[in-house]
Amino acid sequence: MSKVTVIGAGNVGATVANVLAHRDFVNEVVLIDIKAEMAQGKALDSWQQAPIDYYSTKLTGTDNYALSANSDIIVITAGLPRKPGMTRDDLISTNAGIVNSVTKSCLQYSSNPIIIVVSNPLDVMTYASYKVSGLDEKRVIGMAGILDTARYRAFLASALQVSPKDIQAILMGGHGDSMVPLPRFTTVSGIPVTELIDSEQLNAIVERTKYGGGELVKLMGTSAWYAPGAAAAQMVEAILKDEKRIFPCCVKLNGQYGIKDVFVGVPVKLGRNGIEQIIELKLSDSEQALLNASASEVKSTMDVYDDLPSA
Ligand code: NAI
Ligand code: 2OP
Repeated sequence: MSKVTVIGAGNVGATVANVLAHRDFVNEVVLIDIKAEMAQGKALDSWQQAPIDYYSTKLTGTDNYALSANSDIIVITAGLPRKPGMTRDDLISTNAGIVNSVTKSCLQYSSNPIIIVVSNPLDVMTYASYKVSGLDEKRVIGMAGILDTARYRAFLASALQVSPKDIQAILMGGHGDSMVPLPRFTTVSGIPVTELIDSEQLNAIVERTKYGGGELVKLMGTSAWYAPGAAAAQMVEAILKDEKRIFPCCVKLNGQYGIKDVFVGVPVKLGRNGIEQIIELKLSDSEQALLNASASEVKSTMDVYDDLPSA
């Protein structure tokens, strides 16, 4: 039996639940929101899609945390999304209050879940949930790197006119404009990307990726949900199926990459125990400098969180 609770039945949370249901490997998905009827409605709508798309994952929508009891994984998407002109950091104090309170509520009913945080600002919200939950650091993981890398891969696929399936890549750093794309570790079916694209075009794609979230906020008036929801669902799948997949995820570093006590995106191995390994790449001096700058930026938002009255 496997059970996943998704907190926040908004754009991203409902997508996570719907994607999980379509993959049909979780027995039960509970969708929790302060807007109970909206959560109920979205769960019911997804359940009514089951006979059409052939899945049997049970879906429940509620505002009652008791129904989340004994969840294997909790995905936290509750919080405000960005509006045009806002940075992710503008959300910090509001979303910290929300993430703290939903983490506490979940832990009343599930003693040792794995938490996947999606709410923004992502790196500091992952830190908040880790701190409030008291869970082992291998069990509190932020989703951003899979999304950022997917955007980079999608832009490359369009530029090269190849299938996105064949682009392998990794991005590191915080979920923000200081993220660290790594063209050196980007291949197209094993071919180094630098063999296929000139540096000017590649740099333009790297820059577009850094602001990929903002591009969508500008277009839609709120932040993205299809790719973010699918990315969080992919993490759930890797963990519950013990797939040992390697993804960039936001985790607490303990000296890896020369960084300590900061939550930042790096490649990790995901399996049944959450983060089963943090993979340390040998970075060039310029890559390491970018990662250090990104980690310092995240650390400063963690300090802002620590100074909040609710922390
Ligand atoms: P949304 O506004 O569509 O949904 C948020 C939901 O949270 C709403 O339904 C709201 O009622 C609910 N909520 C608020 N306070 C709550 C509480 N205390 N308990 C339970 N539910 C509560 O927003 P959307 O688009 O789903 O985004 C959710 C969060 O995810 C935002 O913070 C957004 O910035 C972030 N995000 C992060 C990404 C990432 O890569 N990490 C990507 C996309 C979004
Ligand atoms: C995104 O990258 C806003 O974090 C959100 O789409």
